[in-house]
Amino acid sequence: MDWDEMARPWLEAAPDLETSFQDVYTLLFAAANLKAGESILDVGCGTGPTLPTASKAVGTSGHVMGIDVAPPLVARAAERALDNVDLLIGDAGSHIYTPGAFDAIIANFGIMFFNDNDAAFQNLHKSVRTGGRIAATVWASPAENPWFSVPRRILDETVEGVPRPDPTGPGPMRFADPSILAGYLDKAGWNADIQTHDVLLRPPGTTKRVVDLHMKVTFGMMLAGLDVGKEELNRIKQAATEAFTEYEDEGVIRVPAKIHVVSATAR
Ligand SMILES: C[S@@+](CC[C@H](N)C(=O)[O-])C[C@H]1O[C@@H](n2cnc3c(N)ncnc32)[C@H](O)[C@@H]1O
Repeated sequence: MDWDEMARPWLEAAPDLETSFQDVYTLLFAAANLKAGESILDVGCGTGPTLPTASKAVGTSGHVMGIDVAPPLVARAAERALDNVDLLIGDAGSHIYTPGAFDAIIANFGIMFFNDNDAAFQNLHKSVRTGGRIAATVWASPAENPWFSVPRRILDETVEGVPRPDPTGPGPMRFADPSILAGYLDKAGWNADIQTHDVLLRPPGTTKRVVDLHMKVTFGMMLAGLDVGKEELNRIKQAATEAFTEYEDEGVIRVPAKIHVVSATAR
């Protein structure tokens, strides 16, 4: 995935995404159990929705380092101006960290995009002290996540030739089967426990706003690099409006979702 290409629509969508995923962040931080004084690495921090909570949890005696490959997203994260947070632009999977620098790693939907999973999880292992932790969220299968399966079905029905990404390659659903992630973690020296949770995504606004959000992110991601005409885009919008209306109740949209929450310890 080209996160630089995705950066502009992602920046526009970021505030609504942050509202949508509040329940996911809650599960992430419950798993992370961050403590005052700890040193934390936030992998794939993006625009930094998890940085304020991490910053508060570790307090003034602690420190948070956010790392992300997309410079525009890191620039947005920097606008949060948190005293005990520093940011890095780079590939979290291959960046050379000071060995044992971190007590814990957090990653909200940030560990599914490495080119070389074995190398990345080993590298992250080196970056924490013995007994250091990872808490991470990853999506379960598309079938259990209408947030993704609705746009995919609509594209299948409205636009010819939209490529289907390799389900095992870098992408949001690559660890839908949690045993794949558990295997990489174990091989890299992590003892992992992975729990699956049902959550509600709570995007702000009514169907129109949620469809606009999806046009930027999910449809945007799936249509990246394709030449799609205005008529097709209108058909997609129309179908998305019908589909997401089903999740609207009294003007509020709640989309059921399933995620895996990883808690791992470095041995
Ligand atoms: C789904 S977004 C999640 C962003 C953020 N954690 C959040 O919850 O909004 C995935 C993020 O991972 C970043 N990313 C992808 N591959 C990466 C890599 N190899 N190293 C660091 N960041 C990466 C992307 O730029 C993007 O910001």
